[in-house]
Order: sequence, then C-alpha cells, then structure tokens
Amino acid sequence: MSLWPRKLLQELRDCHKAVVLTGAGVSAESGVSTFRGAGGLWEKVDPMKMATPEAFSGNPKAVWEWYEARRRQVAEAAPNRAHEVIAWMEGYFPGFTLVTQNVDRLHQKAGSRWPLELHGSLWMVRCTGNPSCGEWEDRHELVNLPPQCPQCGALLRPGVVWFGEGLPQQTWDEAEEAARACDVFFVIGTSALVYPAAALPEDPLSRGKPVIEINTEETPLSGRVTLSLRSKAGEALESLRELLLGNKPG
Ligand code: OAD
Repeated sequence: MSLWPRKLLQELRDCHKAVVLTGAGVSAESGVSTFRGAGGLWEKVDPMKMATPEAFSGNPKAVWEWYEARRRQVAEAAPNRAHEVIAWMEGYFPGFTLVTQNVDRLHQKAGSRWPLELHGSLWMVRCTGNPSCGEWEDRHELVNLPPQCPQCGALLRPGVVWFGEGLPQQTWDEAEEAARACDVFFVIGTSALVYPAAALPEDPLSRGKPVIEINTEETPLSGRVTLSLRSKAGEALESLRELLLGNKPG
C-alpha cells in the first residue's frame, strides 16, 4: 500500500505553487544532529547558555567553539535523499519555495537554488559591534577563536538566529508571502515547536489547502494537517518522486 493517497497525488500533479518548510530532521539521515529528542543537541547543552546573545557576550570563546564543532560536523556531511528530492521538486512544480530552519546549507549542496534561511547559516558570521557596522559575511574557513570584524574590530559571532532575536525580516516576509500564495504546503522534519517558523502552515490550513507533514514522530501539527506521514524524510520523499514521475503505481 502506497504512503501517498491517490487523490492527493492528483492534487500535487495539478499544483502550481508548492512550499516546503524543513527542519533538522531532514539532515538527520546525513548524520547531522537534531536539536530535540534522544541524542539531540539541546539534551547535551542548555540552549540559553549557548544560543543567546547574552551567552555569547558572557563567554564568546565557549559559544564560538561549540558552533565551530558543529561547523566541522556539517563540513563532513553530504546531502541525503530528502535534500535531493526537495531540490528536484524545485523543477517539478511551476512555482516552488523552500523555507528552511536549517543552518547547515545541505539544501544548497543538493542543488536547491534559493532556500529562505530563516535561522541564518553556520557558514556566515555577523558583527557584534555597533549595529551601524552591520557586517554579515560568508565565512567558510574553520577557526578556533571568534575572529574580529574587518570593518570595526569588534568580535564576529556565528551568523545564526539565537533565542530572543528576530528573524531576518526580508527572508521572513518572503516565506510568509509564499505560504499565503501556495496550493500545497509540506512540513518536513521539524518538531513544529519554534515560532515564528511553526506558524507558517497556519495560512494554508485556514485556506483549506493540503498541508502534508513528514516526520518520524508525532508533532503538535500532526492532528491538524491533511496528511501526516510517520516516516523518514528520505523514504517518503523518494516514494513521492517515483509516484509523481509515474514510475510506480499510485
Ligand atoms: P528539532 O530537533 O526540534 O526537530 C527535529 C524533528 O525531526 C523532530 O520532530 C524529529 O521527530 C524529526 N526527525 C528526526 N529524524 C527524522 C527523519 N529522518 N525524517 C523525518 N523527520 C525526522 O529541529 P527543528 O524543528 O529544526 O533554532 O528545530 C527548530 C529550531 O529549534 C532550530 O532551527 C533551532 C532549534 O532551537 C535555533 O537554533 C534558533
């Protein structure tokens, strides 16, 4: 029996604008740690002591080192089937927006061209100095201490969004706009607990559009969506690709 109901497959074939929202579960099959659940990052460290502006100003070296360890883990990781199918979806649907909470850039490595990175990237740094400096830049080399801003000399911090901080405004506006305009919304590998990202499916839900969740566990969204699949992202997405391409009976 297929995971994917026939009627929904037909809706997907007719769909003009699809949105995919991803979370850490999409990178789990690449060996990148998730945040919550058994073995998750927030089981080992307190996020308030590692992922806040106050944590960085209190102990920049410790916070930088923790992010550096994550950069090293991610640098060795390769995209998995889930990333690959999501990159393929960009060409399949006439309109497509990928919104990610992930900071590992594995979507880009798999070929996704314009992911909206709601929580920034491990591969960016941001100046902690005077806000008017505003320096954000891509930084790919691995270094053990927080570097200094080439413009103003203040410390550079990881270019990720921390607890208590706002999301990059334009990125968020584009994500909301895509959610408002979509015919179908996928929520893949996210615990759907962190706002505002977790609110994005609300608009398509209120418009009666199909919202499809793929997650190995139940989430607060599971009971409210059109279809909630208990599956690894790679498996469910590979099966979807084959069905949409007509390689498997629906
Ligand atoms: P979480 O770690 O909260 O959730 C990962 C989700 O992926 C869980 O619901 C798992 O059940 C699911 N999962 C695990 N393996 C999977 C697989 N192979 N296939 C499908 N699902 C799988 O990660 P996020 O929801 O991304 O923010 O967390 C949201 C934000 O909270 C993160 O961006 C981060 C974190 O604190 C910041 O650092 C600001």
